[in-house]
Amino acid sequence: MAILDIDNLSMVFGGLTALDKVSLSLEKGSITAVIGPNGAGKTTLFNCITGLYKPSSGSVTFKGKRINGMKPYKIAALGLGRTFQNIELFNKMSTMDNLLLGRHLHMHTGIFSGSTFFRRGSRAAAEEIAHRQKVEEIIDFLDLQHARDRFVGGLPYGTQKVVELGRALATEPEVLLLDEPVAGMNMEEKQDLMIWLSDIKEELGITLLVIEHDMRLVMEISDEVMVLNYGEPIAQGKPEDVQNHPEVLKAYLGEDSVAGAA
Ligand SMILES: Nc1ncnc2c1ncn2[C@@H]1O[C@H](COP(=O)(O)OP(=O)(O)OP(=O)(O)O)[C@@H](O)[C@H]1O
Ligand SMILES: [Mg+2]
Repeated sequence: MAILDIDNLSMVFGGLTALDKVSLSLEKGSITAVIGPNGAGKTTLFNCITGLYKPSSGSVTFKGKRINGMKPYKIAALGLGRTFQNIELFNKMSTMDNLLLGRHLHMHTGIFSGSTFFRRGSRAAAEEIAHRQKVEEIIDFLDLQHARDRFVGGLPYGTQKVVELGRALATEPEVLLLDEPVAGMNMEEKQDLMIWLSDIKEELGITLLVIEHDMRLVMEISDEVMVLNYGEPIAQGKPEDVQNHPEVLKAYLGEDSVAGAA
């Protein structure tokens, strides 16, 4: 059974159909890439899955439960994590504290509330230690020691992207949605991220849905690829099959180049 099942999902804004009957199933422990030109509806798909947008029609089923129409925080609490195309972190907080905020979903006693800490005594203290330990593991996993105690706003862009990935991991998702995880990264950072994504799948067993423009990364890491164009899925399948699909070449390179290549 698919861990995440999207069935005939459509999203209409006024007169614009941003998603047109999109269906997609994610197998547990797989990496699926969503590609397509700018404005194709990729981020809209993520917003519909995570509850930021209420789809116009169709359904999203996560672990057998229909989730469309549910509030974003409830969907997140079921084990669906995400990162954003434009980094959404607290710039004036350290990497450590940003990741601790990711633990918020799992907290029974607010760790930032001193009064709770003292009232509940050792239970809160034990919980805080466990959360910090979890965050330290993620910091090690993503090689973020150098950034651990620094303000996120002062870190290089590529490192901020990694911190955002770390915060998403801190929520301990079963399915993780990444919106352009390597955009703006240099070659070395991209290389590292590629390895981490494979490790996230292999070692942590997390199912990934990744929006990405970098074709080399898509071809290298994905088990499945879906291509969107003007909200419509125009190709779906194994990376090698999708890569040379005539509709895909047309959407990416324009009509003439396909005619020329034929
Ligand atoms: N809240 C909204 N209200 C109105 N139109 C929207 C809204 N969100 C997205 N759109 C429109 O839906 C279409 C798809 O946008 P979306 O951001 O999903 O594209 P994308 O594939 O993520 O593009 P990019 O590669 O540039 O990030 C665009 O035409 C966009 O203007
Ligand atoms: Mg987008």
